[in-house]
Amino acid sequence: MDAAGILMLLCALEVVAAGAVNPCCYWPCQNKGVCVNVGQEGYECDCSHTGYYGENCTLSYFWTSVHTFLKPRPAFSHYLLTHYKWLWNVVNKISFITDNMMRLVLTARSSLIPSPPTYNSEYHYLTWEGYANVTYFTRLLPPVPKDCPTPAGTQGFKIRPNVTELAQEFLLRRTFIPDPQGTNMMFAFFAQHFTHQFFRTDFNRGPGFTKALGHGVDLNHVYGQSLEQQYHLRLFKDGKLKFQVVNGEVYPPSVKESPIKMKYPSTVPVEKQLAVGHNLFGLVPGLLMYATLWLREHNRVCDILKEEHPTWSDEQLFQTTRLILIGETIKIVIEEYVQHLSGYHFKMKFDPELLFKEQFQYRNRIALEFGHLYHWHPLMPDSFKVQDREYKYEDFLFKPDILLDFGVDTLLESFTKQRAGRIGGGRNINGAILNVAITREM
Ligand code: HEM
Ligand SMILES: *[C@@H]1O[C@H](CO)[C@@H](O)[C@H](O)[C@H]1NC(C)=O
Ligand SMILES: *[C@@H]1O[C@H](CO)[C@@H](O)[C@H](O)[C@H]1NC(C)=O
Ligand SMILES: *[C@@H]1O[C@H](CO)[C@@H](O)[C@H](O)[C@H]1NC(C)=O
Repeated sequence: MDAAGILMLLCALEVVAAGAVNPCCYWPCQNKGVCVNVGQEGYECDCSHTGYYGENCTLSYFWTSVHTFLKPRPAFSHYLLTHYKWLWNVVNKISFITDNMMRLVLTARSSLIPSPPTYNSEYHYLTWEGYANVTYFTRLLPPVPKDCPTPAGTQGFKIRPNVTELAQEFLLRRTFIPDPQGTNMMFAFFAQHFTHQFFRTDFNRGPGFTKALGHGVDLNHVYGQSLEQQYHLRLFKDGKLKFQVVNGEVYPPSVKESPIKMKYPSTVPVEKQLAVGHNLFGLVPGLLMYATLWLREHNRVCDILKEEHPTWSDEQLFQTTRLILIGETIKIVIEEYVQHLSGYHFKMKFDPELLFKEQFQYRNRIALEFGHLYHWHPLMPDSFKVQDREYKYEDFLFKPDILLDFGVDTLLESFTKQRAGRIGGGRNINGAILNVAITREM
């Protein structure tokens, strides 16, 4: 027997010696019932609001059965939405139908999410902390109780396998697998740029914590996370953001003019370090390109608002423009980004008024699981093509010069032409960034 085997045996003996296993480690409660310890060795399942009852929440109420029977299977709905293009072309022209469908999509989707939020990485039971302490990501699945025999409860490995070997076996790219939906690099960098406003793990506190306390689309990655950062980025004139002009075009200011703490290696001179709302966006020219686009858009909207509202202060112009850019972002995300991801022929619509007459109360909270599934590093290619040049990872990362030399137009055109990698299915992460999958073990 090898050392790991002996260790496993010892663990098993220890469990036997210590008496019975915490019954909740067996995850006895089905259908999202909640396991509660009762007495020394017992448990009860809290089946409230699950639509089920019985010792393990396995028996369904009559209406639950009817509902389950009638509800279309997700695969069926998906099939309908991704086929019959001619039918959808007709449906998409009738706003009465599309508005009602979109309303249904929004209310049905939001009712799938526990709101108010339930668990976080510290608590597998309901707490005030889980509800109120927004420094945590929320968790849809409760963490495994701390006294269980294996990391998953009672099943699976007693000791976690070697994560490097797992990543090399299941995640490392052999040959580039292109995305089957034709996704391009322009989309990939949009995904990275957009999601990093609400996935900002606070590694100083631990992987269960976030620095993005707004838990949503607040554009902190454009405007900075703190008021102090925001002030460094603002021009304090006509609501605008600070900028610099390079080769006759507008770009983010350098950290010399906007002294916020950006993360760049020391090889990038200070005057070349661009300052934007997210301190890691110097990482990829694609992120800096989007930062530049939003900066230009902000100042463009300010000009229009000032023209229409010459009496407004700098503050009112700034704040109103921020709201407009948040709206623009959500519109692009729903009508183009999610539309593309879904593959639906049904045309999605962003219209806040769809829910104005609904009983709709919703507080967004970003979930840890959401962050995990959004690690879309397989999107990244083996090399980055810009015009007629091809960059390896080491020549592309932390190279703000690539943006300044080529300009937004050229980058945009090149990224639109280059195909991104397939996200799902495994074995498609380039070796240069495999480490991202390895370091986040939990
Ligand atoms: C060349 C491109 C990229 C590089 C070098 C890169 C690198 C990294 C690194 C170093 C981290 C932190 C790792 C850690 O958890 O310790 C990270 C996190 C992450 N990355 Fe990427 N990434 C790239 C592209 C992307 C793209 C295209 C997406 C698409 C959505 C993405 C999504 C994420 C997410 C969601 C996180 C977690 C962020 C957080 O919670 O703080 N990345 N990436
Ligand atoms: C509930 O689950 C426990 C543990 O899995 C099992 O022993 C028990 O028989 C189940 N009870 C019912 C009524 O199915
Ligand atoms: C949230 O929880 C963390 C970890 O327990 C704690 O350090 C922090 O002070 C809490 N924040 C608030 C606002 O209570
Ligand atoms: C995991 O496997 C890698 C590659 O085989 C090895 O270099 C590393 O030392 C192993 N780590 C642990 C903790 O055993």
